[in-house]
Amino acid sequence: MTQKNSLHWNEIYSKKVENDLSWFQPKPTISVYFIEKYGNSSESFIDIGCGTSTLVDELVKRGFENLTLLDISAQALKIVKKRFPSENRITYIASDVLQWQPEEDFQIWHDRAVFHFLTRPEEISTYQILAKSRISHGGILILGTFALDGPTSCSGYRVSQYSAETIRKLFEPEFELIDSLEEVHETPWQSKQNFTWTAFRRV
Ligand SMILES: C[S@@+](CC[C@H](N)C(=O)[O-])C[C@H]1O[C@@H](n2cnc3c(N)ncnc32)[C@H](O)[C@@H]1O
Repeated sequence: MTQKNSLHWNEIYSKKVENDLSWFQPKPTISVYFIEKYGNSSESFIDIGCGTSTLVDELVKRGFENLTLLDISAQALKIVKKRFPSENRITYIASDVLQWQPEEDFQIWHDRAVFHFLTRPEEISTYQILAKSRISHGGILILGTFALDGPTSCSGYRVSQYSAETIRKLFEPEFELIDSLEEVHETPWQSKQNFTWTAFRRV
């Protein structure tokens, strides 16, 4: 499954340009808003399933000192690395998040449009256990997922939909929901996708 999955995503990042990707956004406005509101630049940050997002560019500009980018697609990471040929604040990890065995804890954990690809109970539970064990106490979990009235599939895969309430139930009591908002994401071809954003603090 992992290998098939990584081939799938590598092919997408090899063949498509930004404007072919439904999830592409010129500026990761909501991610930056939550990260600046609840985190700070000296904290360790990880972007789960970063793809080729420009979020890391925004955080480098803002002086973040310790950035980790994880994606199942080595090709996506290669594209990002080209933008930062000599940036030693960034660590790259090519791995399926469900297979990953981290060696450190993180203070800010960000995931836009990755968690909703986990549709089987055992996948969701593996992710929950990982987040609970690897986000420091007092640390922040930021999740951007499709909303209840969001898409039912993406990039050829079935996806899950969430409200702030349904996602809260998955992460409490270890995490306390501290913020949420709804976003209408516009794809590069102007179709609309409803997202639910949540921010949690590790209790
Ligand atoms: C819809 S894209 C979102 C990319 C990025 N977060 C953004 O907002 O632009 C989903 C990303 O998750 C990655 N991905 C999918 N399944 C994954 C998994 N099991 N582990 C790690 N990354 C995964 C894909 O390679 C892809 O880059």
